[in-house]
Amino acid sequence: MGIAPSPIQIDSRVTDFIAKPRKMLIDGKWVNAVSGKTFPTYNPATGEVLAQVAEGDRADIDLAVKAARKAFDSGPWSRMTASERGKLVWKLADLLEEHMEEFATLETLDNGKPLTVARAADVPLAVDLFRYMAGWATKLEGTTIPLSVPYTPGAIYHAYTLREPVGVVGQIIPWNFPLLMAAWKLGPALASGCTVVLKPAEQTPLSALRLGELFAEAGFPDGVVNIVPGYGETAGAALAAHDLVDKIAFTGSTEVGKLIVHAATGNLKKVSLELGGKSPNVVFKDADMDAAIAGAASAIFFNHGQCCCAGSRLYVERPAFDRVVEGVASKAKKIKVGSGLDPATHMGPLVSEEQLQRVCNYLEIGMAEGAKAASGGRRIDGKGYFVEPTVLVETKDYMKVVQEEIFGPVVAAIPFDNPEELLTRANDSVYGLAAGIWTHDVSKAHRTAALLRAGTVWINCYNIFDAALPFGGYKQSGWGREMGKDVLNLYTQTKAVCTRL
Ligand code: NAI
Ligand code: MG
Repeated sequence: MGIAPSPIQIDSRVTDFIAKPRKMLIDGKWVNAVSGKTFPTYNPATGEVLAQVAEGDRADIDLAVKAARKAFDSGPWSRMTASERGKLVWKLADLLEEHMEEFATLETLDNGKPLTVARAADVPLAVDLFRYMAGWATKLEGTTIPLSVPYTPGAIYHAYTLREPVGVVGQIIPWNFPLLMAAWKLGPALASGCTVVLKPAEQTPLSALRLGELFAEAGFPDGVVNIVPGYGETAGAALAAHDLVDKIAFTGSTEVGKLIVHAATGNLKKVSLELGGKSPNVVFKDADMDAAIAGAASAIFFNHGQCCCAGSRLYVERPAFDRVVEGVASKAKKIKVGSGLDPATHMGPLVSEEQLQRVCNYLEIGMAEGAKAASGGRRIDGKGYFVEPTVLVETKDYMKVVQEEIFGPVVAAIPFDNPEELLTRANDSVYGLAAGIWTHDVSKAHRTAALLRAGTVWINCYNIFDAALPFGGYKQSGWGREMGKDVLNLYTQTKAVCTRL
């Protein structure tokens, strides 16, 4: 099928995997959709169909949720010790690591990202996430609490808290890091003892479906993890609204995040959201310029700008502005854009025709509003969804390209004159996901970090992720934190137990 011509021999396990229509995982079995329908997933480097996938809808979601409910309410999973649960999650990490190359290739074919990046970042980060969370399974402890109840004088109580799993969790993930987003979601849910129905993005369902096969191999009981691929408006909406789901976790657009909140009101299921961003990356004039220029380029061009935390507003202190713009534009021009399978490629295609149109539309609007491109600015003609790495200058703060998330390799470079003005402008966004600061001045760095309204602030670095470091948004960038110990609060609930002695 539609695999880009490439100097790399594709792993036969991968070609075999995509040769057959892929089924969905419900209650430990691989099944077709109730409707019998399938949908295509595309190779974004060629625009051709890569594989056919079972198209989940309301009926399949219902079966999957009931399987997860049974596994949570009465299955062997709920009787396992925390250590046994942790061991299964660790085993899954081992299996994923053993299949590193296969997963990296699937990710490149389905999403478009360079194979070198999938090998160095996506798969190892997913492995590490599962290991980190495996360790937490045995450490979810409650507390003992001294009581002083005023209306039972003389009574003595023994009171303590338990941290229990929230139950059946629906998880809806996007296409920008398909495997890693599955790991961010599944790891803490399983460590906490929840059961899951995962809906991967329709653009990139393959790595999650391959991961599904490893759950059985690791020894997870049937129904603990169910994977239902399908479209957002159908399968996703049905999962968000399902009455037997106790919690929904979503990563994607702020627009759909709001729909999820509405859908969740029926049974008031718990909701966590990791949404969009328009993150400011701030270069002060005293920064190490080489590091700041390289960092600013990678902040926006990593993963083709398809990162919720992309450093898409580059604020530079005026005396350094020309140098930084020239430096980032020069790096942009040297980026080799091509098929992710080619080892020389730095940047692959955008994930879909729709995303290509969206990004090109923003470029047109930006230019029409008066922005200029210091590099790039156009689609790359030919097959596949390629766009030039772009540095925009001469923008105004009210422009759409400065206000809205583009989710492509497009940065607006903006000069500033003093720190007060910078903070007002950097915080002038409905989003608050991440921010970057480049300076040698430790005091200025931490003062600025405190005043930026963002869930993550990187100082003299950008896009640094670790399973132990919480990640999530202020303002309309989301509710709750992924990773670190914070995420476990989203998958557990506290039970207070009080005994009169
Ligand atoms: P999206 O928010 O529509 O898709 C994300 C996930 O939500 C997918 O699994 C999709 O099937 C599901 N979904 C869509 N509509 C749904 C609904 N009504 N109910 C339940 N689930 C639903 O994002 P899309 O359209 O792929 O990308 C649009 C924009 O969203 C991007 O340009 C970018 O700005 C932003 N985005 C942000 C991401 C992040 O990491 N925060 C990831 C992907 C997109
Ligand atoms: Mg695809």
